Amino acid sequence: MSNRHFISLLDLTSDELKALIAHAIDVKRRLKQGISHTPLQGKLLAMIFEKSSTRTRVSFEAGMYQLGGHAIFMSPRDSHLGRGEPIEDSARVISSMVDGILIRTFGHERVESMAQHSCKPVINGLSDLLHPCQVLADMQTWIEQRGDIAGASVAWIGDGNNMCHSYINAAIRFGFNLRIGCPAGHEPNDELVRSGGDRISLHESAMAAAQDVDLVVTDVWASMGQEDEQEQRLKSFASFQVNSAVMQAAQADALFMHCLPAHRDEEVSTEVLESPQSVVWQEAENRLHAQKALLEFLLAGSI
Ligand code: CP
Ligand code: NVA
Repeated sequence: MSNRHFISLLDLTSDELKALIAHAIDVKRRLKQGISHTPLQGKLLAMIFEKSSTRTRVSFEAGMYQLGGHAIFMSPRDSHLGRGEPIEDSARVISSMVDGILIRTFGHERVESMAQHSCKPVINGLSDLLHPCQVLADMQTWIEQRGDIAGASVAWIGDGNNMCHSYINAAIRFGFNLRIGCPAGHEPNDELVRSGGDRISLHESAMAAAQDVDLVVTDVWASMGQEDEQEQRLKSFASFQVNSAVMQAAQADALFMHCLPAHRDEEVSTEVLESPQSVVWQEAENRLHAQKALLEFLLAGSI
């Protein structure tokens, strides 16, 4: 069996990602029609959460169950990961007993190290650098609503964080243009920006980034692990809120996305979050369907 990982969207080719999303849409249809689809019978996924989660935990746990498998939740509080057992040793031990490992953690190197030492597929459930599972669900949401995203114009507004980085990778794999509007000092990783070439542009205001785009995306201003910076960040990001004025700079039929949890009237106004242009609830639900396709791809070896 193959031992592919999903640490970054770049771990899959454009064709594989598109096939995966097509499968996710089909898996979603089957679930809604009550048609059983259990290709992962007898398979186990270990889920290591070193940070909080609602969507990622529920979607992977529900997904494994619906596919006929089972998920094991692990936290540092009640495993040796929280008592200093090296990630390399944990990877060898856990992967010898299960069929795949999901890890949500701080430093991206912990995810990479887990993958290096695991004999089973490893999925990045969010690191400080990347959040590929969320952007996979975002791409499914766009495709369901609008079709192909190639050639579209997308604005990322706010922090140049893990979500922004995965949007850069998505721009590369799905062929859209990404206009990033961030306050000075909060720009995304320079190397990642350069890897996107002409597809990526940086803008100094939310309005400039949103000009004529087809999709506006934002995220919290202080990510998990940055709680101490919350007050300072509220000030630095104040003019980067996605509100109706920003949405008016975009195309009239532009969509709005946010990975959630959202801080209403901070990074996004309640009006935009609850507007007909907002597809945040569809995005959240699609975590389940997109990741079921991903689990099937990685754990069953084909879709
Ligand atoms: N969007 C997302 O990953 O949500 P959780 O932190 O709740 O998993
Ligand atoms: N950027 C956010 C995403 C949460 C899903 C964080 O890392 O906390």
